Amino acid sequence: MIVGILKERESEPRVAATPNTVKDLIKCGLAVHVESHAGENSFISDDQYKESGAIIIESSEELLKDVDITLSVMAPSLHQISLLKPESIVISLCQTTRELDFVEGINNASLTGFSMHLIPRTTLAQKMDALSSQANIAGYKSVLVAASCLGVYMPLLMTAAGTIRPAKVLILGAGVAGLQAIATAKRLGAQVEAFDVRPVVKEQVESLGAKFIEVDSTSDEGVGEGGYAKETSDDYKNKQQELIHKHISKSDVVITTALIPGKPAPLLIPTTMVDSMKPGSVIMDLAAENGGNCELTKKDQVVQHNQVIVDGTSNLPGTMPVHAS
Ligand code: NAI
Repeated sequence: MIVGILKERESEPRVAATPNTVKDLIKCGLAVHVESHAGENSFISDDQYKESGAIIIESSEELLKDVDITLSVMAPSLHQISLLKPESIVISLCQTTRELDFVEGINNASLTGFSMHLIPRTTLAQKMDALSSQANIAGYKSVLVAASCLGVYMPLLMTAAGTIRPAKVLILGAGVAGLQAIATAKRLGAQVEAFDVRPVVKEQVESLGAKFIEVDSTSDEGVGEGGYAKETSDDYKNKQQELIHKHISKSDVVITTALIPGKPAPLLIPTTMVDSMKPGSVIMDLAAENGGNCELTKKDQVVQHNQVIVDGTSNLPGTMPVHAS
């Protein structure tokens, strides 16, 4: 069978296979065709792919007509799907609940599609998990971007000229991205607090040296199936809003990562809360792709509201394409 690696569209610097993964595929008995310049934005040359045993193909049209399995980061375009052989397989990070044209295109063309978003988050399936590595990068990079926008230091400084208090970082949503954001902010010396609807993450948050802030509730109502979150009641939401409001007004950086599978991201920061934040503070909304956790978030834009920066960059993993790929 032939596996084809597509060159991604302009806005996507990552690539679906590296020379190392190409070697693994070849070891399994597969042939690998790579579209010319596919790795360019991840700093991988055609020659490196060739050295790993792949065959370089000049255009996606030429590549797609022969392959049995197509690997890409973003879902291929409808035009690309139309070039594939019937019964072939397409594997990508497609979001099946939102990219409906793609799903319909796959169905109509009698192809089989696998979405990396739908791989179960279980220990058994860990080898196939493409989301954790990307969430890790997003969490890490969000702290670095926020730190570089801030007008203040992150760590505590004690100098002859006086003492500088550490910056306060608030993380909303302590899944993979949130935990990595906590670890990174702690390494930079910030004072970190985190909130999540799943009480089980308390221990994980505390083990990273951050303070877990909790809604006063006896039930596990935010805990859904498979370790994911689910939507909470209005009463819980009101208590949550009050709690976040209290902490947000003192924070220099807020990193939001809250997601509920298959649903729009929960709104955690209405504009009135941003109004209470200090000028110069930064919100990094990692849920921007799914509508955002902040009311003011605009996907792939950095906006300012009363001198508070709201960053809605949706593809932070793409800003570190070497490790993301
Ligand atoms: P996610 O990206 O779906 O959501 C991020 C975080 O937002 C979650 O911790 C969620 O509880 C939280 N959240 C949702 N609604 C919220 C709200 N209203 N307010 C505050 N926080 C809210 O989560 P992610 O990072 O994909 O992790 C999901 C689960 O999968 C976790 O339990 C994680 O530990 C688990 N997991 C398991 C793996 C395995 O191989 N066993 C691998 C990776 C993750």
